[in-house]
Amino acid sequence: MRKKIVAGNWKMNKNLQEGMALAAELNDILKAEKPNCDVVICTPFIHLAKVSDMIDHSVIGLGAENCADKKSGAYTGEVSAEMVRSTGAEYVILGHSERREYYHETPEILREKVLLALEQGLKVIFCIGESLAEREANKQNAVVKAELEGSVFNLSADDFKKIVIAYEPIWAIGTGKTATSDQAEEIHAYIRSVIAEKYGKEVAEETSILYGGSCKASNAPELFAKPDIDGGLIGGASLKAADFKGIIDAWK
Ligand code: PGA
Repeated sequence: MRKKIVAGNWKMNKNLQEGMALAAELNDILKAEKPNCDVVICTPFIHLAKVSDMIDHSVIGLGAENCADKKSGAYTGEVSAEMVRSTGAEYVILGHSERREYYHETPEILREKVLLALEQGLKVIFCIGESLAEREANKQNAVVKAELEGSVFNLSADDFKKIVIAYEPIWAIGTGKTATSDQAEEIHAYIRSVIAEKYGKEVAEETSILYGGSCKASNAPELFAKPDIDGGLIGGASLKAADFKGIIDAWK
């Protein structure tokens, strides 16, 4: 059985004190009532070390939102996969559309990041998804396939098993506009078929594919009920413990 996962992506929100307060609140809530899925919070780099010390990692996994495409050295301002891992974090988000768009991360750069993250034993939440124009031109399948081929299909099957895919249509991120559960299921099933073509059915069946883009407590149950949707990558609604818990409860 593949893993069900609800992962938060805090993006560039919360100062250190606010982030610690949110992590502590979530930790208390989830320790009191064990979730029916894996829960992960991905925080800004500066939160990782402190949050890692505060949370029970058997209840909440911790991840970064990015890491460098170089191993170490003279890259001012960058944070390496090894540094991320040394905080106690277990995950890293790579390929988020905001990184691709605003920071010009190419498929080649992302391929390097993925390799370095895996080398450190980090699990990668790899994001793919089409823009509104691509969806309107009915190119969504070609886009997600190319994104997989460009940055993760170079991996061995054993390494690919350490990847969680997050399908995030760009037009749904932070817009309040969610893909319908049928729209999401259709492309999730397609993504799984592309993985099956490349790595075989068994690997495809084991790969968790998360939906992201204006996912909230009100729409999560319908999305998560679909056979190929294995959870969510949550931006805005991960910034309040009660909202995030509402989404986690969709797996009840
Ligand atoms: P959102 O963001 O939930 O705020 O739409 C999702 C994401 O970008 O991961």
